[in-house]
Amino acid sequence: MQISVIGAGYMGTTHAACMSQIGHRVLGVDVDAEKAARLQAGDLPFFEPGLQKLVRDNIASGRLRFSASHEEAADFADVHFLTVGTPQDKDRPAADLSFVNAAVDALAPHLTRPTVIAGKSTVPVGTAHRLAQRVQTTAPVGDGVELAWNPEFLREGLAVNDTLHPHRVVVGVENRESRAAEVMRELYSPILDDNVPFIVTNLATAELVKVSANAFLGMKISFINAMAEVCEATSADVTMLADAIGCDERIGRKFLNAGLGFGGGCLPKDIRAFIARTDELGVGDALAFLREIDAVNMRQRRRIVEMTHEMIGSLVGARVTILGAAFKPNSDDIRDSPALDVAEQVQLSGAKVTVYDPKAMDNARKKCPTLNYALTSLDACRGADAVLVLTEWDEFANLRPHELAAATRSKNIIDARNCLDPATWRTAGWVYRGFGRL
Ligand code: UDX
Repeated sequence: MQISVIGAGYMGTTHAACMSQIGHRVLGVDVDAEKAARLQAGDLPFFEPGLQKLVRDNIASGRLRFSASHEEAADFADVHFLTVGTPQDKDRPAADLSFVNAAVDALAPHLTRPTVIAGKSTVPVGTAHRLAQRVQTTAPVGDGVELAWNPEFLREGLAVNDTLHPHRVVVGVENRESRAAEVMRELYSPILDDNVPFIVTNLATAELVKVSANAFLGMKISFINAMAEVCEATSADVTMLADAIGCDERIGRKFLNAGLGFGGGCLPKDIRAFIARTDELGVGDALAFLREIDAVNMRQRRRIVEMTHEMIGSLVGARVTILGAAFKPNSDDIRDSPALDVAEQVQLSGAKVTVYDPKAMDNARKKCPTLNYALTSLDACRGADAVLVLTEWDEFANLRPHELAAATRSKNIIDARNCLDPATWRTAGWVYRGFGRL
């Protein structure tokens, strides 16, 4: 099939590359002509394991190309995926839909033959219905444009695998007569097998699947983080607790790792946008616990700063090493990164902060230019009064206590991701603190 993917950000670039990989001819579109040209040259503006090669291979095969022209997209494709960002609004904790609206408005005037627009961006429930009306009144082909909503569940760091091997494909359509569901089934057929549910539903349900999945994931993390505090107050161990309750299939062990909490470009802002939308819909009271999920999550960041105080006393003039800047390992994404948030708070408390991350240094430097940066974890630790492990990169989990001790001034370590073995560090003479761990 000939498809376009509008919005060549993280999700769009991955989707475009994966769709070309399964045999479709794909045009990736971005309003930023420089970005489109860079992608066309096979150069990814962000780090994602396996994606650069996939983009280059498919450009070389002729199945994938990038452009800045919506007119070209309308001309070329029969299905248009919308993958533009829906960041948090600058003035309120709701979604900013200006990019989604702009993408539809740029495309619609060029749609002269029957076509499907499949939204993938995470949007407040009700958006797809509104967009359908908007596009059908402005496109020359009118209601020959069908709108579908096809939420995306990919995780950064595993984006290619998640796209090529989805847990489910969800397609929301306008009505029973809609042919969009069959078009989408055909499009995804190379990656659908008996183990991949293909769920066809209405637009509102499809939109809600995405936000409720993210809210549920956030709820699991905040639940275990709240339990970590109970564990600390009672000499219990949260990791063992999670292992034990996770054995129950109804609960499951995944997303029960206590620590610094969730960040990134999706979970925090999607949960806040969902809260705002439930208020608009008059069902905010029913979802009041979402606010608590957000509050527990943000509290984790403050607790790490407090823990550092408790460990080394006043932070004024202290040297603190921060290992990790990305919001999670195998990513260079620093959007709403708990690690950088803590680094800034520790610095504001008067400490000299030095940061190291295996992939996110450039992004971190741009966002937080006043922090110090080192080229290796060992360098970052020189003269440190405390070392804070804030992102669970393998490199940090494999650190050797004796090597590190030769660089630091004091042997104090806070393991904010519970990724180190407490016994190993304590045996080597370190004062070790994790979250809710013995
Ligand atoms: C998330 C969703 O998983 C994905 O389905 C959706 O499409 C986009 O948002 P992503 O942002 O890539 O994906 O990150 P994810 O792997 O879900 O982790 C989110 C955050 O939660 C990270 O900061 C991570 O460190 C944290 N986390 C995750 C925990 O603190 N504990 C856990 O047990 C799991």
